[in-house]
Amino acid sequence: MGLPPALERAIEDATAAIPAPALTKAAAELGRDYRETAVQRAPRVASDAARAAYLEVRMRAIFQVNRVLDAQLQQLCPAMDIRSVLDLGCGPGSATLAARQTFARLQTATLVDREPQWLKLAERLIAATDAPLTAAARYMAADLRGIAKLDEHDLVVISYALGELPEPARKAVVERAWESAHGAIVIVEPGTPRGFEVILGAREALLAAGACIVAPCTHRQRCPLAGADWCHFDIRVDRTRRQQQIKAGTLAYEIEKFSYLIAAHQPAAIAGGAARIIRHPLKKTGHVILDLCTGDGSAQRLVVSRRDGQSYRDARAAKWGGLWRPVIDGAT
Ligand SMILES: C[S@@+](CC[C@H](N)C(=O)[O-])C[C@H]1O[C@@H](n2cnc3c(N)ncnc32)[C@H](O)[C@@H]1O
Repeated sequence: MGLPPALERAIEDATAAIPAPALTKAAAELGRDYRETAVQRAPRVASDAARAAYLEVRMRAIFQVNRVLDAQLQQLCPAMDIRSVLDLGCGPGSATLAARQTFARLQTATLVDREPQWLKLAERLIAATDAPLTAAARYMAADLRGIAKLDEHDLVVISYALGELPEPARKAVVERAWESAHGAIVIVEPGTPRGFEVILGAREALLAAGACIVAPCTHRQRCPLAGADWCHFDIRVDRTRRQQQIKAGTLAYEIEKFSYLIAAHQPAAIAGGAARIIRHPLKKTGHVILDLCTGDGSAQRLVVSRRDGQSYRDARAAKWGGLWRPVIDGAT
């Protein structure tokens, strides 16, 4: 699952004016910022070279993560009709562009960022790839900390942006965002302990506001991983040749780790008691070990043996991040 070819071309055009050495240097700084700020994140994407590097080395992975989450929302809330998206802290519009790939009826988008240069880039990428959205999209230069309630949108997304706000401001931003969500809200952060902490804070605010948690949690209880571990998932993203040149000597793919939350006004269409698989299943000879976050709000380890027939076949096919049906017997 790569970027749509038109978006790849638009990124190439948008970054063409930046000399290769400047792009390589900015990409290295961006990578260092993300690693160093695993605890305190506030990446400095404040020059044309830094923004171009973001398009080249971050946007693909973030776009793919958003696609995975949009597909989950679609699967878990099949009756939800998503025609509009509000993209808060939009950057180059990664979340909006991803939503357009999933929600066939999506017609309009409002993109909000405090940096006018990001809004210009988002507008440029949308104009190059999506004529219907170009006519309908609105761009707002605003600090999320100051926004009042915005117009309602079917889907509100805060992608890799909430963690850039100082802690005391986040709760109010999540509350305003939820008030603007007619259908659902998706919040995603890097899959680090700090990213998870940001997601936990958002979860608390959304539960207090009466939201239904759609994913990853299958319950409304206290998170069983809070304070002990961090709930995160990953996807593998292929690197383009250009990306490999910019990040000289690196692999042909990268693993993007993320923590997230999807909440909605309606509950998810999942069986009561279903559990989320929160680690890579350990597929041993004759048995599979599944780490689950269960429907009653506890973290449990389930060992499924070859003797368990269909459950064993299901466990062999199971994936980190997927749902496991309500089989709690046998948890160790
Ligand atoms: C890491 S980028 C993520 C961009 C985009 N959402 C994505 O997923 O690719 C974070 C974005 O949040 C924006 N941002 C950070 N703090 C903000 C604030 N207080 N108000 C509005 N935007 C903010 C930044 O300007 C930047 O565009």
